[in-house]
Amino acid sequence: MEAIERVCQYLDEVHTYYLATMEGDQPRVRPFGTALLYDGKLYIETGKVKNVSKQIAANPKVEICACKGPTWLRVAGELVNDDSREVKVAMLEKMPSLKGMYSPDDGNMQMLYFKNATATFCSFTEAPETVNF
Ligand SMILES: Cc1cc2nc3c(=O)[nH]c(=O)nc-3n(C[C@H](O)[C@H](O)[C@H](O)COP(=O)(O)O)c2cc1C
Repeated sequence: MEAIERVCQYLDEVHTYYLATMEGDQPRVRPFGTALLYDGKLYIETGKVKNVSKQIAANPKVEICACKGPTWLRVAGELVNDDSREVKVAMLEKMPSLKGMYSPDDGNMQMLYFKNATATFCSFTEAPETVNF
């Protein structure tokens, strides 16, 4: 399995991860659950009206963290906006519960993919493993 697939599978398994952004010099963090591997890229989804979206527009560097048992995963990188309709449709197909809040043409739904990402798989018992995508 490719590194990026392992990252997406981990995020799918935990259901909830935490996304950190910067607002000026103040870190902001919140729970997120969306993850989609599409066209070789790892996407997350948010709403353009949210503060998180505005923070990413001002500073695309983010980090996410998730944990599962004695393991945890960090992904640091930059998020890139992708307004293509097909990736929004794919996200809604993968996570149909989003359909109550978002639709591809609502002017709010936002898909963002990681670039220059470094993912680190960590555990209490083994050496960390770092992959880039
Ligand atoms: C389990 C869980 C998963 C969530 N997943 C997402 C998500 O994938 N995308 C999103 O925009 N908001 C998601 N939210 C809601 C955000 O955490 C919430 O809107 C948050 O306030 C956004 O950050 P902000 O207030 O800095 O804009 C989720 C909330 C929970 C409890």
